[in-house]
Amino acid sequence: KTNILQDAHGRDHAYLRISLIERCNLRCTYCMPEEGVTLSPKSQLMTYEEIYEIAKTFVDHGVTKIRLTGGEPLIRKDIPVILEKLATLPVELSITSNAVIIDKFIGVLKANGVNKINVSLDSLDDAKFRHITRRHEFKKVYNNILLLVKEGFTVKVNAVLMKGFNDNEIIDFIHFTKNLPISVRFIEFMPFDGNKWDMSKMVSYAQVMAYVNNAFAEGSVERLQDAANDTSKNYKIKDYKGSFAIISSVTNPFCDSCNRLRLTANGQLKNCLFSAGESDLLTTLRSGGSIEPVIQKAVASKFKVRGGMDTLKKLQEPKLHNNNRSMITIGG
Ligand code: GTP
Ligand code: 5AD
Ligand code: SF4
Repeated sequence: KTNILQDAHGRDHAYLRISLIERCNLRCTYCMPEEGVTLSPKSQLMTYEEIYEIAKTFVDHGVTKIRLTGGEPLIRKDIPVILEKLATLPVELSITSNAVIIDKFIGVLKANGVNKINVSLDSLDDAKFRHITRRHEFKKVYNNILLLVKEGFTVKVNAVLMKGFNDNEIIDFIHFTKNLPISVRFIEFMPFDGNKWDMSKMVSYAQVMAYVNNAFAEGSVERLQDAANDTSKNYKIKDYKGSFAIISSVTNPFCDSCNRLRLTANGQLKNCLFSAGESDLLTTLRSGGSIEPVIQKAVASKFKVRGGMDTLKKLQEPKLHNNNRSMITIGG
């Protein structure tokens, strides 16, 4: 059988990220423009049957890991059914959520074998959280992180760093891992349509490490082994229960080991987080055609680095990165 999930650079794609919904119960500034985004009509969103059918095709061709994203995946009404359907496939199933309402889903997540959860949280300060998310939900998210740990989930916390806004919390976030067995991952702010990205607002991998090395004694910062195809460079502070990491898509892209494909809520395949082009799997499926050749063509044309923006100079050209969607409709 031909390997339709291998690209022209020899990369195999075993990880599918599926965005379930374009809406969210928060409105993070780095993820969506203030005025919101144009939503797909409901008829153009994948139903749970279609999600299952498309996912199954990918699994038949070698996908072993599926991550559900959004928008906020848990606000989709049929999320329990989606989880139940996908749990019948031989994959590791996980979810990235803002955790605002995740306490209501502990049972259904466990019942469907989801035991790793990534939570987005960009500040440990209530007022700052409100500023960045334009919503007043800090306490719920914070308590839900503690709840997830108590319930035995493997938890990673994603914090997008923005210069002058939350870079002064890097050390607080690391202290948060002292007694909690979580991984806090600092993410370099990335450019997407409508998020007013500017290189000068980003906090780089090197800058994070400068803060860390300044705050902790020499010899107490340990570099950990990264998992295969990991997005992050992992570290821990000696004797801390948890760890921390940096996701450096801007200054240190990990495209060489990229194994990801993305399916948007309206059924478009994106071969890269930064790809401008998309392939319409949903229309093909609805017209009764085979989606396999469409997938194969999309994967084969994947760029080596960041959807073709292989230099920092190209990444900084608005006409290139604004060809992409807003993050809220990609799913990270
Ligand atoms: P794990 O399965 O735990 O490794 O999670 P993950 O890092 O793949 O996914 P998550 O949804 O937690 O994403 C964390 C951050 O990594 C987000 O900012 C994503 O946009 C970014 N990220 C995830 N996958 C990719 C990728 O393929 N390329 C790039 N450039 N960034 C990615
Ligand atoms: N840059 C970097 N990371 C982002 N995320 C959302 N928007 C951006 C951006 N512009 C992250 C969120 C979420 C993950 C899926 O993507 O923190 O945890
Ligand atoms: Fe993969 Fe594109 Fe992310 Fe690079 S930028 S790791 S090619 S999805």
